[in-house]
Amino acid sequence: MVANDSTGNRGLLRDHGVRLCDGDLVLRPLTEQDWPTLLRWNNDSEVLYFTDSDEVVSRSMEEVQDIWRWVAQQAYCFMMELDGQPIGECWLQEMNIDRLIEMYQGQDCRRIDLCIGEKEFWNRGIGTRTIRLLTEFGFQKEGADAIFGLVGGHNPRSKGAFEKVGYRLLQVVPEPEGVKAKISWDLIMTREEL
Ligand SMILES: CC(C)(COP(=O)(O)OP(=O)(O)OC[C@H]1O[C@@H](n2cnc3c(N)ncnc32)[C@H](O)[C@@H]1OP(=O)(O)O)[C@@H](O)C(=O)NCCC(=O)NCCS
Repeated sequence: MVANDSTGNRGLLRDHGVRLCDGDLVLRPLTEQDWPTLLRWNNDSEVLYFTDSDEVVSRSMEEVQDIWRWVAQQAYCFMMELDGQPIGECWLQEMNIDRLIEMYQGQDCRRIDLCIGEKEFWNRGIGTRTIRLLTEFGFQKEGADAIFGLVGGHNPRSKGAFEKVGYRLLQVVPEPEGVKAKISWDLIMTREEL
């Protein structure tokens, strides 16, 4: 998932000004002050096991900044805060996967990616609440036609969180040799299904 372009010029994270709240859970814009937190989560091999399809076990600050500054050009990137404490990050991004762009030609398709970096907060329903907030934002404010969760077959918990929000399995995709999981799941929700 490391994004590289030929120019090496990504710009800084943009302050998109969107805050999404559900009680004690707030999604606020990711900022240039958040790098140390992201770096810590990107050097936790247990976290990376679930977020990456490859066998990545650590990332440098430069790699972390490259990824998020690149994605932020086509995404709303957020820090997840619980009672004001950063616990994870997430984004709502324009669809960038060819098989889905072709399948839904002419439609506004987005994808949700998320990671709770503080592991003690796994399995407490926070991922589900985050996906719900991003989904409502995507359909109600952004006018998306369809939103996807793209989940590796080694991560049934993530699939479970999307399904609890109402996403359904669109297709099972075989993964190439060398990728951690043999399959991945394309999960979808359309605007009518919200
Ligand atoms: C994936 C992640 C976002 C999910 O958020 P979460 O807050 O931990 O998950 P939730 O508690 O909201 O919901 C998970 C659901 O999956 C279920 N689940 C957990 N492990 C499971 C497993 N091995 N098999 C099937 N279901 C599982 C849970 O029981 C729960 O459903 P329930 O509430 O009906 O019991 C979070 O765990 C995380 O960030 N993990 C590390 C990074 C990551 O995996 N990112 C996603 C990459 S696609």
